Amino acid sequence: MSVLDCDALCVGWPGHAPVLRDLSFRLAPGEHVGLVGPNGSGKTSLFHTIAGVLPAQGGAVQVRGRAVVPGQFRPETALVFQQAEDQLFCPTLIEDVAFGPRNLGLPDIEIRARVQAALDLCGLTGLEDRPVHHLSGGEKRRACIAGALVMQPELMLLDEPSAALDMRQRRRLIALLQSMDQALLIASHDLELVLELCPRVIVIDQGRICADGPAQQVLGDAGLMAAHGQEVPHSLTPHQGAGHVHVRSSP
Ligand SMILES: Nc1ncnc2c1ncn2[C@@H]1O[C@H](COP(=O)(O)OP(=O)(O)OP(=O)(O)O)[C@@H](O)[C@H]1O
Ligand SMILES: [Mg+2]
Repeated sequence: MSVLDCDALCVGWPGHAPVLRDLSFRLAPGEHVGLVGPNGSGKTSLFHTIAGVLPAQGGAVQVRGRAVVPGQFRPETALVFQQAEDQLFCPTLIEDVAFGPRNLGLPDIEIRARVQAALDLCGLTGLEDRPVHHLSGGEKRRACIAGALVMQPELMLLDEPSAALDMRQRRRLIALLQSMDQALLIASHDLELVLELCPRVIVIDQGRICADGPAQQVLGDAGLMAAHGQEVPHSLTPHQGAGHVHVRSSP
């Protein structure tokens, strides 16, 4: 069974023309898929519809074979917001990360273990009592990721997860997401990150899916990329001259 199933899905904001029309795609369990498209193409809107925040304007969206009902909490789906400030709202970091598991009614001992593990994975140990509005931009982003990880979701929707991260934290994030066996849908303008993490890429633009296929093929297609406001990532660009080797440092 698919983890995510969008069938002729129509996404839009109340009182406005649809942002996306007739969108159909599936995610298999554990599949890591990149979602690429220019500013305003509807990546965030799509995530809000899959997460049940923004009602679909048509078609159907199912997670684990059950229809997404706007406003209904689905613990198997976790959304990492594009704007950290939209996600973080508790007085302290530890309370924020613990909010979801507490809502699930988990025992205190399990909440503590899950929260500590999530903070650790996101490099936030030691900042537990910091007010969320006193975290740096990158720390806020990692707090949002911790708040999603702690739910142990089957489907993670990551909206620009590497935005505001320094190189070391970006590399740690890539290693972390690479190790996850949950299904991931990653919206990002960081095409090198998408290339490293996602064997499959979906491109959206002008209200529809323009490509859905193997990452190297889709992101390496210069005509397709240019037509949708993108550039072929550096590592897929042919290089002239011998000895141009990319050496990647460890996390
Ligand atoms: N709350 C809202 N009400 C009305 N229209 C909105 C709202 N939020 C976004 N939009 C519009 O919906 C369209 C899609 O926006 P969305 O944020 O989904 O794009 P995006 O692909 O995530 O862009 P970006 O790459 O800049 O994050 C845009 O035209 C935007 O102006
Ligand atoms: Mg967006």
